[in-house]
Amino acid sequence: SDLLRFLCLFSFSKFFYLVRASAWRFKVNTLASQDTELSITPRFCGFSATIEGLNLSASLSSQSIQQIQNYWLDYPVLVITKQNISDLDQVKFAKNFGNLEIHPSVAHRSTKTPEIYRVSNVDENNQIMEAKSTAWQYLELTWLWHTDSSFREIPSLGSILHGIEIPPTGGDTLFADMTKAFDALPKPEQERISTLNVFHSHDYIVSQSKALSSRENKGQYESLPRVKHPLVRRHPVTKKQSLFLSPHTMESIVELKEQEGRVLLDDLIHHATQHQFVYRHKWKVDDVLMWDNRCTRHAVLPYDSINHRRVMHRTTVIGDSVPKA
Ligand code: OGA
Ligand code: MN
Repeated sequence: SDLLRFLCLFSFSKFFYLVRASAWRFKVNTLASQDTELSITPRFCGFSATIEGLNLSASLSSQSIQQIQNYWLDYPVLVITKQNISDLDQVKFAKNFGNLEIHPSVAHRSTKTPEIYRVSNVDENNQIMEAKSTAWQYLELTWLWHTDSSFREIPSLGSILHGIEIPPTGGDTLFADMTKAFDALPKPEQERISTLNVFHSHDYIVSQSKALSSRENKGQYESLPRVKHPLVRRHPVTKKQSLFLSPHTMESIVELKEQEGRVLLDDLIHHATQHQFVYRHKWKVDDVLMWDNRCTRHAVLPYDSINHRRVMHRTTVIGDSVPKA
């Protein structure tokens, strides 16, 4: 995974300049809803976009919610800027899209608001976590590519993340378009892998950290059984097929011999990390991002977690159904 991370960072730094140079921006004003006028500005190749005209600390009309839901299907990664919201505002907003998950890691839940998962190198006493703490070692695994809660029988529908404190460099979030990555595969390969299933488990996440796996106390997590998901899933609403890859929970391919399965997974992971599938988000304070976990995956770029604070609060919408081929 070190090699993957290196390859990813390498191709990305080259690509970023290209994207900036050829950024295409236009604005489409949409029909005014009851009380607000929302508009959408595409960011990256029909994959991410900014919504303007929202105030997430206010109540939203059902028209606005519907509009956001439509945008979310068109652009799996939505950005809403300048939202100085409280945790309760965030929970209320997220509940417009479904019930919310409680994260299995006890150390990362907000004690006041358990629906808030603290993706943060700062603890609840406002101190930067020690590098050797289990809480930090677990969180550091967000630097690996993953899809949120792929270890659940019904993985999350989508995540909503509020950027509260942002480090001066590093800590960008990469999002990969898993529909485009699937579409780019040769037809025979698409057909072959569409019949396969993958074992996912939460324990596997912990095994991906050298530091965590070698210690006695690995942290406190709710126990979750291993689950089986299709390697190619169909989005329940758009019906588009996408690769369902969450490398930090994928143990093995059910139908293949261990080694053969590993090679296939690694090839697909490598394929789906190419720059043409990836949007890179450089955070500003009070950005709120919402992404559809049913057709994307993401990874955080490393940052100086010893000297700089990065505080992000996540709400996670429970999935609508088990992933289906
Ligand atoms: C997450 C995550 C993204 C980030 O919140 O699910 O993986 O930018 N983190 O911190
Ligand atoms: Mn995540």
